[in-house]
Amino acid sequence: MNKKGTIFSGMRPTGRLHIGHLSVLENWVALQEEYNCFFGIVDWHALTTAFDNTDQIKHNIEMMLLDWLSAGLDPEKGSIFIQSDIKEHGELELLLSMITPLSWLERVPTYKDQLIQLGNQGKDISTYGFLGYPLLMAADILVYRTDTVPVGEDQLPHLEFCREIARRFNYLYKCDVFPEPQAKLAKVSLLPGIDGRKMSKSYDNDIPLSAATEEVKSKVQMMVTDPARIKKTDPGHPEVCTVYKYHSIYSADNIEELCSDCRKGNIGCVQCKKRLAKIIDEQLSPIREKRIYYENKPKLLKEILENGAQKARKEAQLTMALVKSAMKI
Ligand code: TRP
Repeated sequence: MNKKGTIFSGMRPTGRLHIGHLSVLENWVALQEEYNCFFGIVDWHALTTAFDNTDQIKHNIEMMLLDWLSAGLDPEKGSIFIQSDIKEHGELELLLSMITPLSWLERVPTYKDQLIQLGNQGKDISTYGFLGYPLLMAADILVYRTDTVPVGEDQLPHLEFCREIARRFNYLYKCDVFPEPQAKLAKVSLLPGIDGRKMSKSYDNDIPLSAATEEVKSKVQMMVTDPARIKKTDPGHPEVCTVYKYHSIYSADNIEELCSDCRKGNIGCVQCKKRLAKIIDEQLSPIREKRIYYENKPKLLKEILENGAQKARKEAQLTMALVKSAMKI
């Protein structure tokens, strides 16, 4: 089939995915119909910060694969693989490092931010590997001569860096091996965690993609609502309520009615949460079904990763031949 172009995107295997990741994954699922897609579980990127805490990494990779497949990524349509299985990512990063000015890496805004943020938590990541994070990411993208990268807004500086590297390579070696990849901005998730903060596994305020019905119910029950509302008949203030935020995304059609029922004290928080839990549960139900299909099939999962790696490697090797020919090495 003639596809529009080539996509690469990836996620660091740092733990289970949650419903806040769904909008990104739905985007990927749609794109796999139109584009030649490469989706990498970027374990080397995880190592840049978790180099001293690697016990979980293999397990996290397996969980990520299951989360992706459950959410609808189709190994027949795109290539799903582990970054470290394609050594060309590392080889290209090394070759590109020869032409990468240090100052370009040092001025990537996420670099200093993270250095300071993790430094405050007592973690020193002033390593060569972490400084090279954006270059490894550029290699992930460029090794497939990707033209389109679906990412969140937080990744835009990295993508800009990647374009600069592509330009510099083409200029220095008088070639056009690399296209300048464009970002395709993914919808950002507006879903807060159940305590109202940003949803994150590390805050334990998330609803995992793999949550069973009971877990969905109990997590929704724990959501913070209007603290001023003690009895059901007390007037509610939806604007301070986490459950309301969810309804405004999921129950857009009857949100006004719900809002006025809450303000008048006609609907209680318990009932409102039950409705929400049902909606989230319905959303997770097809995901759960796919998970049941894939889980406990280590052979099938291994095959998926092997086939994905094979397709990816073929393309990556082609690129490396072009790169070396342009560099005359
Ligand atoms: N840095 C990305 C993130 O944290 C993950 C990533 C690594 C990536 N390589 C990539 C995303 C290449 C897009 C393309 O989300």
